[in-house]
Amino acid sequence: MERRLILTWVLVLCTAMAPCQGYYSHSKPYVPPKEKVTKLHFFFHDIISGKNPTAILVARPNFSTAFNDTPIPFGSVYATDDPITVGPNLTSGVIGNARGLWTSTGQDVLTLVVYWDIGFTQGKFNGSSISVFSRNPITQTERELAIVGGRGKFRMAKGFALLKTHFADFSTGDAVVECNATVIHH
Ligand SMILES: *[C@@H]1O[C@H](CO)[C@@H](O)[C@H](O)[C@H]1NC(C)=O
Ligand SMILES: *[C@@H]1O[C@H](CO)[C@@H](O)[C@H](O)[C@H]1NC(C)=O
Ligand SMILES: *[C@@H]1O[C@H](CO)[C@@H](O)[C@H](O)[C@H]1NC(C)=O
Ligand SMILES: *[C@@H]1O[C@H](CO)[C@@H](O)[C@H](O)[C@H]1NC(C)=O
Repeated sequence: MERRLILTWVLVLCTAMAPCQGYYSHSKPYVPPKEKVTKLHFFFHDIISGKNPTAILVARPNFSTAFNDTPIPFGSVYATDDPITVGPNLTSGVIGNARGLWTSTGQDVLTLVVYWDIGFTQGKFNGSSISVFSRNPITQTERELAIVGGRGKFRMAKGFALLKTHFADFSTGDAVVECNATVIHH
């Protein structure tokens, strides 16, 4: 009696699992190629004002929160397609873009958290990108952001980006920021 019950269960389980098989396979342990270290230097342009903003407000609280007198009150969410350039001037040559979101996340001090895929459109790293997920304490002139991943030539990336505000207008929210990124990748 008990044996029959077990057999029935085995049959039920096998039938239930059958359609789920075949979507994975095991391979030998991943042997990573030798690590490379790439240093990048660029400027990004985060422009909220004017006719061609690169950062767009997609949501904000419908009541008063901290920093309500700025374009980036606590709780606001912006989507970005920030051009990145070799020099501080937009005319210096666009080499990529910082796409994603940032949110105003500080109640005591104006600060952001950025969720960015910074992609390159020129030269050796055309088509490759680095993933940034980090707080960005914008009131500090110099700050560090975490690089948590990457695509293409930056596969399996990790690293850090040192930022320095080149220009900022806290009334409009516009900023041009210098970035030195150190990327460790495969
Ligand atoms: C904000 O939105 C919530 C949810 O829709 C609503 O209940 C609340 O009344 C709104 N507050 C104001 C100040 O409009
Ligand atoms: C950027 O370059 C243009 C053309 O070279 C120049 O007219 C403009 O003043 C420059 N802007 C800044 C902020 O240096
Ligand atoms: C970058 O890559 C894209 C897609 O492969 C290609 O269309 C474009 O011409 C490349 N640009 C440069 C400057 O190499
Ligand atoms: C980036 O590195 C350059 C060259 O070492 C230096 O002049 C610049 O101040 C650095 N900028 C940042 C934001 O770290």
